[in-house]
Amino acid sequence: MPIPVLIDTDTGVDDALALILALRSPELSVKAITTVAGNAGVQRCTRNVQKVLEVLHEHNTVPVVQGASKPLKRTLVTAPEVHGFEGLGNFIPVLLHYHTRVRANAVEVILGHCRKYPKRLNIIALGPLTNIAAAFKRGPSLMRNVRRIISMGGAFRVPGNTGPVAEFNYYVDPEAAEAVVRGRLPLTMVPLDLTEQIVLMRKDLEYRARRRPSALSRFILKFTRHYMRYHLKAEGFDGGFLHDPLAVAMAIDPRMFRSRPATVHVETRGRWTRGMSIADFRVRPSSRGSAVEVVFGVEKERFLRLFHERLWT
Ligand code: RIB
Ligand code: CA
Repeated sequence: MPIPVLIDTDTGVDDALALILALRSPELSVKAITTVAGNAGVQRCTRNVQKVLEVLHEHNTVPVVQGASKPLKRTLVTAPEVHGFEGLGNFIPVLLHYHTRVRANAVEVILGHCRKYPKRLNIIALGPLTNIAAAFKRGPSLMRNVRRIISMGGAFRVPGNTGPVAEFNYYVDPEAAEAVVRGRLPLTMVPLDLTEQIVLMRKDLEYRARRRPSALSRFILKFTRHYMRYHLKAEGFDGGFLHDPLAVAMAIDPRMFRSRPATVHVETRGRWTRGMSIADFRVRPSSRGSAVEVVFGVEKERFLRLFHERLWT
């Protein structure tokens, strides 16, 4: 029985790879996609999701609902240096089909799916937690009734990627992240500690795309180009991290991962530490209820086999 899934995303490049992985995995049934400002402005993120769905011929099967255009309290910070000004590089993805724009409120859509799939829904949050925090504020017991919320975010024992200590998603909206990690929700965090253990090398991507020429493989090569150039300059390797696909893989097959409980906080007041995530792994029985599951290990070959198998076949 496929797992009902709602994906909340700031579709940028690794989000797009994560969406392709999710939509091509029979273990998951993607019921809706909500968008949030992060890597790019929310309208660009929404258009990017629609483009991915178009290339997968899924543009009339999965509703896309536009969400928050800015963080709860902060001015929006985007990441054009990483994902390009358009979010999938610097080219403008042209939509070739009419997309029924679901004129609904993203928070209501999230809560509606919590209500429809009690104890079964997996919410996979790939961007800042603005929509998730807003839904939790409006319907806390509904949100606590989901099977799991998987959030790609945070950095504990590795440097941040947005300044020295913060991971981007939690830096952009630290108030939302703090509300979610402290909300006694069934939360699983997939932090940089895990996601920076795996790299997709450009040569490998090109080799696989050449072996399987298609509209999808051409699209993947095109939208990953800027992202990989960024990593070559900033990280010194000719490839890119797969942050968001790892969060999706956690929903597909959690057995390939290792995690442990922790009490987590996200800094919202620090002058130099905005968005920093702090974990106390000494979880006492009294604080067990507020514990978050933090993923710290993955069977790398097993993940990469799943990723490539689903992307290219
Ligand atoms: O820090 C990496 C995360 O921030 C990823 O989800 C990436 O897409 C950006 O949203
Ligand atoms: Ca993302």
